[in-house]
Amino acid sequence: MSTVTDDPTGGDRSSTEPLLEVEDLVVEFATSDGVVRAVDGLSWSVSAGETLAVVGESGSGKSVSSLAVMGLLQTPPARIVRGSVRFRGTDLLSLPRAEHRRYCGDHVAMVFQDALAALNPVYTVGFQLTEALVARTGTSRREARRRAVELLDLVRVPNAAQRVRDYPHQFSGGMRQRVMIAMALALDPQVLIADEPTTALDVTVQAQIMTLLAEIQAERQMALVLITHDLGVVASVADRVTVMYAGRAVEQAPVLDAFTRPAHPYTAALLRSVPRLEALPGEDEDAELAVIPGRPPELVALPPGCSFHPRCQRSVAGCRVDPGPALRLVAPGRRAACHLAEEQLADPPVPVAAPAPAEEVRGG
Ligand SMILES: Nc1ncnc2c1ncn2[C@@H]1O[C@H](COP(=O)(O)OP(=O)(O)OP(=O)(O)O)[C@@H](O)[C@H]1O
Ligand code: SF4
Ligand SMILES: [Mg+2]
Repeated sequence: MSTVTDDPTGGDRSSTEPLLEVEDLVVEFATSDGVVRAVDGLSWSVSAGETLAVVGESGSGKSVSSLAVMGLLQTPPARIVRGSVRFRGTDLLSLPRAEHRRYCGDHVAMVFQDALAALNPVYTVGFQLTEALVARTGTSRREARRRAVELLDLVRVPNAAQRVRDYPHQFSGGMRQRVMIAMALALDPQVLIADEPTTALDVTVQAQIMTLLAEIQAERQMALVLITHDLGVVASVADRVTVMYAGRAVEQAPVLDAFTRPAHPYTAALLRSVPRLEALPGEDEDAELAVIPGRPPELVALPPGCSFHPRCQRSVAGCRVDPGPALRLVAPGRRAACHLAEEQLADPPVPVAAPAPAEEVRGG
């Protein structure tokens, strides 16, 4: 268990120094309906060998914040209003855009959700891997080709020596995602951001890819930032979790703490919406899963006070009054943005969310 910490990036300063720290990141988009604040004061950090999961409903700012970290946001329409993204202390946002990307190319890699869109259809995967290696490391083509085969082997693409000659469309969805992971690993990143790396895949392949990522991460002591909707996977592979709602982090905690005793009613609601190994006290085992009532708010017209209040079962009159709750320390190593976090924490523990595929993740 971590010691009491008020690290603004939600990390655990009692362990190793963070590799990558996002602090107070604000990203806006100019739209015809007005300014959309897609990321609002987000902070997180991740250390070597650690897996940080970032979860939250669609539109909560998970991808936009990752693209900002990588220097890949299109500006305009996006604008980084403030914040810092420090890699080993260097603020990447203060660098010229090209240097920011080069820095990430050397140290921080990202795996995108849609592998087919991210790979170039007119070149073989071997060519794409080789080109990246030659361009970035200055290695010889022969050596880069050898390394390309080695990388496909590492991500368990069968017959790697032959498959380097194939085009992206000749790979299945799961194999293409492995190729994407190989590309991301080509330059030995210290941090890997995986943005829903398995969403488009079937359940068995999802578990295989997650197992692979977890193994590679452990072997290389990489820092992994895993963006996913799958709370079962989070429970199985992540050390800490950041829960996002409407552009903000609303809870940050070690995974087991957050998932057994959520401090934010939104985390609790997310947990009630996934299958569990055991029913909650008083819950019918065959009951249908609870869905979170209502929808995520429109970012151009956020409700006053706590933006979760229209959907929150705990909401009281004070929750509708500005300013909304700030993210604050609510227990050792735990932060939540809720006026009633202490009451939420006092609720009975929740059995850990662990749907079947996640069970295979660690053991597979
Ligand atoms: N190009 C854009 N123009 C205007 N608004 C945008 C643009 N891209 C993103 N947004 C806004 O940013 C918000 C966050 O988007 P983001 O892609 O980060 O969501 P997400 O959490 O990754 O969702 P998902 O789980 O569906 O991938 C969106 O709700 C949208 O309002
Ligand atoms: S501040 Fe109020 S509305 Fe917001 S999550 Fe907490 S209890 Fe619910
Ligand atoms: Mg996304």
